[in-house]
Amino acid sequence: MARSQDPFSKLHKRSLRIAKLQSIRALLEWDLETYLPKAAGGFRSDQLELLAEEIHKELTSNSYKKALNNFIDIETGKIQGDYPPHLQKAAKEYRKNYLQEMKLPTSFVKKFTKTTSTALPAWDQAKKTNNFSLFAPHLEKIVLLCKKKADLLGYKEHPYDALLDLYEPDLTVKTLTPLFNELKTALTSLLAQIKQKPLPSPLTGHFPKEAQDKLSSYILEKMGFSKETSRLDLSSHPFCTGIHPLDIRMTTRIDPSCPLSSLYSVLHEGGHGLYHQNLPIEHYGTPLCDAISYGIDESQSRLWETIIGKSRAFCHFIHPTLQQLFPEALSHLSTEELYKKVNRVIPSEIRVESDEVTYSLHIILRFEIEKELIEGTLSVKDIPEVWNEKMQTYLGITPSYASKGCLQDVHWAMGGIGYFPSYTLGNLLAAQLFSTIKKAFPDWDKKVQQGEFSFLSTWLKEKIHCHGKLYTASEVIQQVTGKPLGVKDYITYLTEKHL
Ligand code: CO
Repeated sequence: MARSQDPFSKLHKRSLRIAKLQSIRALLEWDLETYLPKAAGGFRSDQLELLAEEIHKELTSNSYKKALNNFIDIETGKIQGDYPPHLQKAAKEYRKNYLQEMKLPTSFVKKFTKTTSTALPAWDQAKKTNNFSLFAPHLEKIVLLCKKKADLLGYKEHPYDALLDLYEPDLTVKTLTPLFNELKTALTSLLAQIKQKPLPSPLTGHFPKEAQDKLSSYILEKMGFSKETSRLDLSSHPFCTGIHPLDIRMTTRIDPSCPLSSLYSVLHEGGHGLYHQNLPIEHYGTPLCDAISYGIDESQSRLWETIIGKSRAFCHFIHPTLQQLFPEALSHLSTEELYKKVNRVIPSEIRVESDEVTYSLHIILRFEIEKELIEGTLSVKDIPEVWNEKMQTYLGITPSYASKGCLQDVHWAMGGIGYFPSYTLGNLLAAQLFSTIKKAFPDWDKKVQQGEFSFLSTWLKEKIHCHGKLYTASEVIQQVTGKPLGVKDYITYLTEKHL
């Protein structure tokens, strides 16, 4: 049978078309966050809606179904013919994606989109005016729709599992709950001990944008990025989107009163960027050229941002560059002072401003609230009160306003219940990877101090990136670190560093 005639190739031809449509959607979304003239916002929504419709139509068409069914039996999951292991895995992923798409009727998807697009401006207004009651009726609808979504998608034990599965295909409430409880106990006790120690002052001064731009380019170059295949732009919230392995878009945000915010955003988004750049391009258009899960993706960004970027070795490496770029503000700053300042631990009301010790407590709080909302044991109107109680218990602070409390994140307004745990999984896994990296490269800190990062990017590429979605999250974690995901390495890392 000629290669172009076999069932896989026929299906690939179709899914390649879908991947291209999805990449156009990602590009339009990138543009929306970076360069789109304000007045074109409405037109951009129309364009995105059109693309979403086209993608859905293509995926749910009879001819796509036929092409898929010739490769793998949609009913039974039996692969039709002899294929190498990577194509067998691709077949299973194709089927899973298809079944997921078919489980949500078009009418439901439309209703969900409509509800969240109305909720977003309401959330924005509620946040601006610090008035939770403006957002509450929208959130009630979103919670109901998410429950409905869980029912449509199906689950074995807990409705939240169905939502979690959209981000972390391997995880359930049953595995997550004991992990998060262990973490909560360890982090609150660690935090109590850190609070006994003197708090270093924050970095202050004036840090011109031009010099910060130079710093960003320098960091990305050191991480191994080329301007031939990637870009860095500005947006109000930093993000990274892989349009294609040869087209990586990252953004940062410049604060002239502190260069650290952009420095660490660049390291973070760069970590995502390397992952997407190194995905197996030869499988583009198949599910194999995707990131494994949001948590694995986040482990890449957190490894670069916090574990490497906030290490003493990295401070030694970047200190002379910082002094050269910002001579007025930093001429008297020693390397050790820099290290202390970038590792300040102070509970914040705001998740995205949190340090590596308190960050996961913010996530655990959100996970607990989401789970209860989906179970029906917590009603939307009680969120502000429960939020503040938990903030007080876990972090020892009570948010001054709802906008600095339960209104701070956009995720719920977007319908993204189930997303938050991925952030903490990223932290846990980053620390677990780091334990392995330290064994593989006992002189890792000497390399980092000299600005030599290729050992790390090559290792990550070979161990994780280049396999794409060939393995599941738990398979990769076991293969690379020799054990399942746990909290031990993360707690050890934080304790050794901060106590
Ligand atoms: Co990230």
